[in-house]
Amino acid sequence: MTETTSPPAASEAPAYPMTRSCPYRMPVGYEELRERGPLTKVTLYDGRQVWLVAGNEVGRTLFPDPRLSSNVLHPNFPFLAPRIAAQTQQRAAPPLVGVDDPEHGRQRRMVIPGFGIRRIAALRPEIERIAEGLVDDMIERGSPAELLSQYALPLPSAAICALLGVPYEDRGYFDERSRHVLSSAGEDEADRARTAFTEILTYLHDLIARKEKQPGDGLIDELIAHQLSEGSVDTHELAMVCSLLLVSGHETTSNMIALGTVTLLEHPEQLARVRADDTLLPGAVEELMRFTSIGDVLMRVAVEDIEIAGQTIRAGDGVAMSTMLMNRDPHAWDDPDTFDITRSSGRHVAFGYGIHQCIGQNLARAEMEIAFRTLFRRIPGLRVPVASDRLPLNAPYVLQGVAELPVEW
Ligand code: HEM
Repeated sequence: MTETTSPPAASEAPAYPMTRSCPYRMPVGYEELRERGPLTKVTLYDGRQVWLVAGNEVGRTLFPDPRLSSNVLHPNFPFLAPRIAAQTQQRAAPPLVGVDDPEHGRQRRMVIPGFGIRRIAALRPEIERIAEGLVDDMIERGSPAELLSQYALPLPSAAICALLGVPYEDRGYFDERSRHVLSSAGEDEADRARTAFTEILTYLHDLIARKEKQPGDGLIDELIAHQLSEGSVDTHELAMVCSLLLVSGHETTSNMIALGTVTLLEHPEQLARVRADDTLLPGAVEELMRFTSIGDVLMRVAVEDIEIAGQTIRAGDGVAMSTMLMNRDPHAWDDPDTFDITRSSGRHVAFGYGIHQCIGQNLARAEMEIAFRTLFRRIPGLRVPVASDRLPLNAPYVLQGVAELPVEW
């Protein structure tokens, strides 16, 4: 006989995800969730209860556990909003991030050499040139400005296009479309997200065909030369993988640049220290990652029973991994709700953890360091004329960030 336990009442499993009222503070209900312990339950939009992982140690144990699947096509895979469920079910599973090993490992091994430390170090002068050029344009157009569209988005866009070998003149095409794919929130925006993704994929199919005839200089060219021509990947899979890299390379870092700018401006004494001492910048970037946790909720489904933290996650149960709660765990950091650029933030999971840990993290770190250094050096009087809790925020089930960021100087 199977042991059955009645599901917790709604009050014991609060509605999830929760909306932030400030771009970098925890949503109001998180305080209570954190007090409930490292593994608790929440209720999704469709009434389904799933496990919520809030503890850093439990999270770091579960992330690499192969009994938790990222396969979005699994019949029990949990979604945070109807729009995401509909969008995912109409498509094939996204490569890497939406599949498990061994398929995942094969795809990851294919692209990982493109994101190594030396490769990214070689790209730094180009990223610096991009950042300087964008600030030149912003200064020329004058104050006020909108930082997201004039700086935070075009910088990572130009950088990922340079790395992949996407022609510079085609870049504008992706900025808007990538944004629609990752951050469209409303039901009415689902069509726009779908169209944008199809257009990016079609463009990449064309680009691969062009590059096969006339090779250029970039990761896509290397993948064509080594993987496609050797038959270890077909054109469609290559286009899917490249579209994932292109989209992930845009929206994530741009949200971090915008949110990081707000957070640093709201902690002026720490910003002053970073400005005075460049060696503090890498630590400040890690702390910004921990503190803002923009990819807050990573979903998984259990494919076998897992005993952990005194509970049993049953096969078929949904699991919501809250990187923000794991990054604000008082057992992992003293005073976790305080922004402190000098703390050791190393155990944060803002880039994920385990086999799906972010491939683009070296690139993202380089972009953030260069973006903040250049912006605050070139425009020392930069300010946001709106209180941070009045800024328009993204929906709670997509990447966290501000929808626009007005600035003056
Ligand atoms: C600050 C910026 C970024 C943040 C916060 C971020 C966050 C994350 C997180 C949390 C994951 C894990 C997803 C999961 O476990 O389900 C991830 C995976 C991934 N990220 Fe990033 N990312 C950033 C920048 C980038 C950039 C610049 C790229 C460039 C291509 C990128 C490409 C990827 C890819 C391909 C994966 C999937 C890896 C896999 O499944 O093996 N990311 N990222």
